[in-house]
Amino acid sequence: MIVFIISFIVSISISLSIEPKSLYSSQDRATLINTVETRNCYVSYVKIKGVVYLVKQKKDPKKLMAVIKDALSAWIAEIFEVAHHVQVISSDENFPGKVKKFLPATLHTLAPGKTVREQKNSKFNALRLRQLWARATSFNEKGLTKPILHFMSWHRQLPIIVALDLFIGNSDRHCGNLCYDPEKDSFCAIDMDDTFNKDLCAFACKKLKAMMHDKNLSFSKEEIRAIIIMRDALKLLLHTHKPNNTIKKLYYFAYQAGFSNNNSLYDVRAKNKLKHYEKIIRRTYISVQKLINLLNIIVMKYS
Ligand SMILES: Nc1ncnc2c1ncn2[C@@H]1O[C@H](COP(=O)(O)OP(=O)(O)OP(=O)(O)O)[C@@H](O)[C@H]1O
Ligand SMILES: [Mg+2]
Repeated sequence: MIVFIISFIVSISISLSIEPKSLYSSQDRATLINTVETRNCYVSYVKIKGVVYLVKQKKDPKKLMAVIKDALSAWIAEIFEVAHHVQVISSDENFPGKVKKFLPATLHTLAPGKTVREQKNSKFNALRLRQLWARATSFNEKGLTKPILHFMSWHRQLPIIVALDLFIGNSDRHCGNLCYDPEKDSFCAIDMDDTFNKDLCAFACKKLKAMMHDKNLSFSKEEIRAIIIMRDALKLLLHTHKPNNTIKKLYYFAYQAGFSNNNSLYDVRAKNKLKHYEKIIRRTYISVQKLINLLNIIVMKYS
């Protein structure tokens, strides 16, 4: 009996500690405003208690895990307030704006402003923060680059967004996945569903070591300041998001989306993908520590 009570208390405290930020509850009424089709998604705008949100569903049925990864990444980003908030909509939930009724979707807070890509007259239209991976044609071009370290110095939030992308393994931070609000002078990262597939931190270590072999390498004061902000953001991520808890959250969002034993979505392919993300989360956690050490050396050497 005592064992039962203890395990009951433990299970309650675990489930409470992994409760995500809630944008709506089942009692709230959501009304559909409109649905648009982008290249890869169905995007619907809905109103809940007077607030407009966005519902996203990938068109490609092979990309169902995007729901879980978008939610997990946004949850990790919550400590910084540089990204939208995301809530999972279950495969069995009848929700306005869900085009594929029996598949999961995500509900997103709207990013203030517009994507940097749309703001043709803004300085930030020239930002290039994407840590290229599969599309990179050379070692030099791949992952974290010297130009990215420079672009980070353009705004205090950018080194934090780069740190976040390193931590979640996001190589899709192009100008269409970054919003900027000129009124608030503030960035908001969106679209973090192509994540947890690769250890970007390990690769960043390789890149930084290669850069340091270059005798002509130098950093401006502004670049060093940005590198320090990035390093400190990585330290905070390391401290806040321990792998066991992140993995617990991964499976929590998967369960919310409908990946559970009595659902056909939870097939061998899905299970293997989740295992792979688990492996990357653990591996990245070790690499982040090495990356922070290397950044410490760079800050000392080039300040
Ligand atoms: N939180 C958000 N706030 C405002 N707009 C958003 C938000 N999330 C997504 N969008 C809009 O929806 C579009 C598609 O979403 P997203 O970038 O997440 O998906 P995607 O997989 O890149 O799809 P696509 O390649 O078709 O753009 C974005 O380019 C953006 O215009
Ligand atoms: Mg996108």
